[in-house]
Amino acid sequence: MLEIENLQLNSQGKLRHFLSIEGLNKDLLTEILDTAESFAGASEQSIKKFPLLRGKTIVNLFFENSTRTRATFELAATRLSADILSMNIATSATSKGESLLDTIRNMEAMQVDMFVVRHSLSGAAHFIAQHTAPHINVINAGDGQHEHPTQAMLDMFTIRRVKKQFTGLRVAIIGDILHSRVARSQILALNMLGVEEVRVIAPKSLLPVQVEALGVSVYYDMQAGLKNVDVIIMLRLQKERMNSAFLPSENEYFKCFGLSDEKLKIANKDAVVMHPGPINRGVEISSSVADGAQSVILQQVSNGIAVRMAILSMTMNGNRGAE
Ligand code: NCD
Repeated sequence: MLEIENLQLNSQGKLRHFLSIEGLNKDLLTEILDTAESFAGASEQSIKKFPLLRGKTIVNLFFENSTRTRATFELAATRLSADILSMNIATSATSKGESLLDTIRNMEAMQVDMFVVRHSLSGAAHFIAQHTAPHINVINAGDGQHEHPTQAMLDMFTIRRVKKQFTGLRVAIIGDILHSRVARSQILALNMLGVEEVRVIAPKSLLPVQVEALGVSVYYDMQAGLKNVDVIIMLRLQKERMNSAFLPSENEYFKCFGLSDEKLKIANKDAVVMHPGPINRGVEISSSVADGAQSVILQQVSNGIAVRMAILSMTMNGNRGAE
């Protein structure tokens, strides 16, 4: 596991950067959810714009593709009245280190206030937070196979909205846990927020070694794993991160680990189905489940805006308290 120094908090324990769920605590996660709730409530009453970050410049530094995450960060920044510049930087795995620092130095020279970073290397956002000017906030929008903490927070927000509380919940995360930065952040957040049980359901080849150490129970089949579950989180097979054959075939995978209407019936009647997207219909989830009454997949996307507004405004505020 990556050992990272906790750069995220200022001397008063407030958020300054948002790099990982690891290193945060239940109170901070709850504060993010409550702040997001106030933004979501206002948007539902058609108040869409707040002057909180007027005059601030946010740069989306995306070294990896993204649709939802990038778009919702842009909307979140705009709704807080900040200016946002989105950079789509094609990069190869070898052009790290210096070129990354050079990009940062150039952006700093343009007097920006915040970087939202997505990168294929684990630890990239942390690296930038360590090297950037002290007045700049850094937010991790997904780093390699490490963490995707804003996705985990919008998932926690969605769960809290539909289930009201975390106590007593059984949550199953299903599929490619091995390559998933989303799963890592979710497992940490769910345990911090005090759910009853986090399960992972996957073939052995898609589970990290010693996955139990993350605080999960492990199941290798859906029949057993889905029993008594309140929240089901499906994950995409991250083929771009697989460098050998992890699976016999997609058809076979769907039969064993795909979520069909039939398998969904094993879980609790009021179980909800989640997915961070992009979904692969017929591979990890059937269309009827993805579009069905128990699916909250599109609510996750909408909630992403309010949650990212909360994280942008809280980190920007956290800098005021910094020495
Ligand atoms: C996830 C990601 O990029 O890690 N997607 C997302 O942010 N919505 C998951 C994935 O790519 O499967």
